[in-house]
Amino acid sequence: MSNAAISVRGIEKSYKDLHVLRGVDFEVEKGSIFALLGSNGAGKTTVVRILSTLLKSDAGTASVQGFDVAAEPLRVRESISLTGQFAAVDEILTGRENLILVAKLRHLPDAGRVADELLAKFRLTDAGSRKAGTYSGGMRRRLDIAMSLVGRPEVIYLDEPTTGLDPEARIEVWDVVKELANIGTTVLLTTQYLDEAEQLADRIAILHEGRIIANGTLAELKRLLPAAKVEYVEKQPTLEEIFLTLIGPSAGKDAAA
Ligand SMILES: Nc1ncnc2c1ncn2[C@@H]1O[C@H](COP(=O)(O)OP(=O)(O)O)[C@@H](O)[C@H]1O
Ligand SMILES: [Mg+2]
Repeated sequence: MSNAAISVRGIEKSYKDLHVLRGVDFEVEKGSIFALLGSNGAGKTTVVRILSTLLKSDAGTASVQGFDVAAEPLRVRESISLTGQFAAVDEILTGRENLILVAKLRHLPDAGRVADELLAKFRLTDAGSRKAGTYSGGMRRRLDIAMSLVGRPEVIYLDEPTTGLDPEARIEVWDVVKELANIGTTVLLTTQYLDEAEQLADRIAILHEGRIIANGTLAELKRLLPAAKVEYVEKQPTLEEIFLTLIGPSAGKDAAA
């Protein structure tokens, strides 16, 4: 795929005896939202850390915006932004001050304007002058994502962006992620939530036991399972049913949690 923002080939990674990644392959098209779906401990964060140049793989190659993560880590870092599960937001500062701080750290001229634009884009203008410590979970996560967009990275990694959020806040974050793709940012999203992948992703890859065991659009994944006939209506399989069928009965309980 020449239009790939991220390309991953045969990536392997072990932590001592634990062989976490056993040959991971996938590509993420520029400007798309790609969900890496897997249960807790599947290796999602390990993939993200390798693609962020924070961790070296044992084998395989990966490139981001055409730059090899091992050979050109600085170019990769310039192209990406990483938002983890644990927000980088400073609670003592206001939302606006948090954004200005990041803009100054990235040596952007006119940090105040950058902050105001991002506050508006993430519906935080009114809250911008309040301390971030007073924000709801959804607002904090939105601010966190806004902070990661300072300097307009071409690729953004969202590692379990809605883990720990209540349902309302999750939907707020989903809206923001959809907007990212609208402005042309490539989004690599990891999640253990099937509905999140279903809602957001152009393509979904399922990471299980160290490999990508399925990769496609939701429609393509649905074709992996035949539709069940319930009376006269065809019942399409849900992503949850596909996921549980693919990973097998042993891991089923964990995955549905
Ligand atoms: N630094 C580390 N040292 C040893 N084991 C690790 C380390 N980081 C992660 N692991 C283990 O590797 C596996 C995959 O972890 P991780 O990539 O964080 O999974 P996920 O993000 O999908 O939950 C887990 O079993 C985890 O305990
Ligand atoms: Mg993780």
